[in-house]
Amino acid sequence: MASLIERYRDRLPVDEATPIVSLGEGSTPLLAAPRLSERLGVELYLKWEGANPTGSFKDRGMTLAISKALEAGVTSVICASTGNTAASTAAYAARAGLRAVVLQPVGAVPAAKLAQAGALGARVVEVRGSFDEALAAARVLAERGTHVLVNSLNPHRVEGQKTAAFEIVEDLRGAPDVLALPYGGGGNIRAHARGFAEAGAGTPMLVAGEAAERTTTAAAAIRIADPAHAEEAGEAVRASGGTVVSLADDAILRAWRDLALLEGVLCEPSSSAGLAALVEAGVEPGARVVCVLTGHGLKDPDAAARVSAPSVVVDADPDAIAEISS
Ligand code: F0G
Repeated sequence: MASLIERYRDRLPVDEATPIVSLGEGSTPLLAAPRLSERLGVELYLKWEGANPTGSFKDRGMTLAISKALEAGVTSVICASTGNTAASTAAYAARAGLRAVVLQPVGAVPAAKLAQAGALGARVVEVRGSFDEALAAARVLAERGTHVLVNSLNPHRVEGQKTAAFEIVEDLRGAPDVLALPYGGGGNIRAHARGFAEAGAGTPMLVAGEAAERTTTAAAAIRIADPAHAEEAGEAVRASGGTVVSLADDAILRAWRDLALLEGVLCEPSSSAGLAALVEAGVEPGARVVCVLTGHGLKDPDAAARVSAPSVVVDADPDAIAEISS
């Protein structure tokens, strides 16, 4: 499988001098979702971004951001993160031989994500404060010139992430009518809007799901009070004729369970905000709809355990097993 940068080389800011740092990102599955399609009265597809190397869509932008950092002779990168950007930064920096510093709000990042970034060699720093405060600190350090910022404020991140739209257009042989996705900082909304515009097959109506309680939501990956791309993301949604839907946690978690139980796709809770937004906003019957599922459910095993039926313990006795499994 070609790396994402090789696949879309002509549409990305790279040339022969750019060293490509890849872990085999992109080219993720676009899954038909027949049971949810029937329930919603639409033709629904799931863009399964949890299939990326570190388990989230962040790898699309990170392959480019780290490749460009290496090309520029950078030695150290930094990000603030609710967990996924940190894991992706750690992996691509390790692959490139760069130092990575990842700032994460203390107590707000699932243990699996912290472990992932640490095991990949990043300096994991838990910051007493919110994601927004950690990002402000990372920006100051980047301005001082000691580290390059690889949050989505780094323009290469959005450029890399736009390739998800290219893949969708290729797989569907055209743009969908509606694209639904979560809204945290808004970088991914911008990236998709740009990708569809560049693909030239029309722009879908963008339906973005944000947590109504941005600072406390159970969807920890999108626990962001002050979206860095609010203006551009809001404009992209408006220009598409779409909408931003504010969601109660219950609605997000309901969509998350439906994805797992009806379609067999375990994403992380935040990833289901697009589907939840679609359900609340309503959608034209028969429309062709893509939901972007941004990250893998194994990144937040505690969340998964909270809504699952508890497992049972028995002896290795066929009769005992038969009794509890009927
Ligand atoms: N879904 C997941 C799984 C995420 O990790 C994020 C953002 C989003 C959706 C929202 O995307 O910010 O482009 O609107 N995670 C960032 C991080 C904040 O640090 O990993 P957005």
